[in-house]
Amino acid sequence: MGKDVIIACDFDSAEKTFAFLDKFTGRKPFVKIGMELYYAEGPSIVREIKKRGHKIFLDLKLHDIPNTVKKSMAVLSRLDVDMTNLHAAGTIRMMEGALEGLTRPDGTRPLLIAVTQLTSTDQESMENDLLIKEPIADVVMHYAHNAKVAGLDGVVCSPLEAGKVHERCGEKFLTVTPGVRFADGDIGDQKRVMTPAEAKRIGSDYIVVGRPITAAEDPVAAYERCVAEFVD
Ligand code: C5P
Repeated sequence: MGKDVIIACDFDSAEKTFAFLDKFTGRKPFVKIGMELYYAEGPSIVREIKKRGHKIFLDLKLHDIPNTVKKSMAVLSRLDVDMTNLHAAGTIRMMEGALEGLTRPDGTRPLLIAVTQLTSTDQESMENDLLIKEPIADVVMHYAHNAKVAGLDGVVCSPLEAGKVHERCGEKFLTVTPGVRFADGDIGDQKRVMTPAEAKRIGSDYIVVGRPITAAEDPVAAYERCVAEFVD
């Protein structure tokens, strides 16, 4: 899979999601289904969006003991998603278990991406709450390296970290980056943002874009603008 724009469908019902997706008559955008929508509608929402012809990033960020994650990933792989994820903090063994569980009997599997440190975690909360005293940038790179060692395909990271992740883990190691905003748009609650064009320049493989598209007056035009800046 090449560079692509993934729309974060952060809706709380199938109805709202389909009303949104119905606006796209020409293209079938790559769609991210996160916890909100998945917990509201269950696996049927994944099957229905897949049936409509969209690629799917199932963003459930698994984190549990290796055996539980392995077995849960085996169930998720049957949903035929294209990409899914977990927390690198679950250890290399957990990530290896996940990869094993995700691999279908025919050897195929969805892409598996690790979350390093959430962008909502800062140095202070990491030190005080998690008792991790290293610089956060080093922790992010270490977790990315662990994901690579475990055999994963890449990480979710801020677009600002994408270049460094590629330097440390190789050009083929995927960087999936949220925190994207248009130069003339609202940044909302995202703190470290980048435009789609900048994300392209810095080497992101996939950008995850939510509100700049879902809350736009013309979501299709906003999506096309992302594609024009990032892919074309
Ligand atoms: O609306 P917005 O463009 O900010 O949406 C970004 C999406 O990426 C949301 O679904 C959010 O949960 C997700 N995300 C993020 N930062 C991370 C990981 C995921 O914004 N570190």
